[in-house]
Amino acid sequence: MSHTRRFAGKVVFITGGTSGLGADTAELFVQDGAKVFVVDLQERDILSRLGSDNAAFRKCDVSSPNDCASAIEECVKQYGRLDVLFHNAARLSPLANVVDHEVEMFQQIINTNLCGLFYLSRAAIPQMRTQGKGAIVATASTSGLAGDYGLCSYNAAKAGTVNLVRSMALDHALEGIRVNAVCPGYMITPMTEAFRMEKHVQDALLATIPMRRGADPKEIGRAVLFLASDEASFITGQTLTIDGGWMAKSGCPNFMELFGGQA
Ligand SMILES: NC(=O)c1ccc[n+]([C@@H]2O[C@H](COP(=O)([O-])OP(=O)(O)OC[C@H]3O[C@@H](n4cnc5c(N)ncnc54)[C@H](O)[C@@H]3O)[C@@H](O)[C@H]2O)c1
Repeated sequence: MSHTRRFAGKVVFITGGTSGLGADTAELFVQDGAKVFVVDLQERDILSRLGSDNAAFRKCDVSSPNDCASAIEECVKQYGRLDVLFHNAARLSPLANVVDHEVEMFQQIINTNLCGLFYLSRAAIPQMRTQGKGAIVATASTSGLAGDYGLCSYNAAKAGTVNLVRSMALDHALEGIRVNAVCPGYMITPMTEAFRMEKHVQDALLATIPMRRGADPKEIGRAVLFLASDEASFITGQTLTIDGGWMAKSGCPNFMELFGGQA
């Protein structure tokens, strides 16, 4: 249990909050004193984990502008304010190059992962303005910083998230609203379960990560709380990469290993 209570009296709206990173981060916010309003497409029992005194749940499809607007409205109605928007909901596409990618699927991925941030922010920012302050944090990805084989729609959506964050940070800086993103590398969540089903896939994946492991989602969640908190009061328009060293590498092989330690 955290003793800092950085979010006492604060209200946090979290998307994709019944699974993986969203659920773990919701728990960290509650431990730090916040009331959280969790939304997700899937209705899973998150309230028994968070405590119904500290949290509310509503089903919401973030690819729908109307759903996003009414969920933000319900949050403000229920808790009387909105201090932090954490847009984290996303889906992974089936692996396909652009020729084979279904058009409708491409649109759905962009709509959920990228447009969701736009729909939610346009609903949340007017409330933050009336409060004179607010923080928006988006979950982007290392997949928004470089390309992955077979993930064209996901790459495009996450890269769009990184730059939408920068753009909103500029537009709302004078209103006291900060906008930042986290870029996780490989995290151990239901989204990546398939990578752990087969040993050769898991081994190949871990071999590319300098720390040779995936992240516990709470290792990302703690950074989300930092960016959302007053400790980050001069940080806006940034993406914080949290990936066990993944993006620190060039494409070079490890010559030290190849030359037996004689690089
Ligand atoms: N797991 C990883 O390795 C990894 C790496 C980098 C970034 N990310 C990102 O982290 C975030 C959290 O993913 P996770 O790994 O916890 O996966 P997850 O699948 O456990 O959680 C994603 C949640 O988003 C919800 N969701 C999907 N579409 C939605 C919609 N249209 N409306 C509302 N909710 C919707 C799902 O129901 C689910 O609860 C995502 O943005 C993902 O892209 C994950």
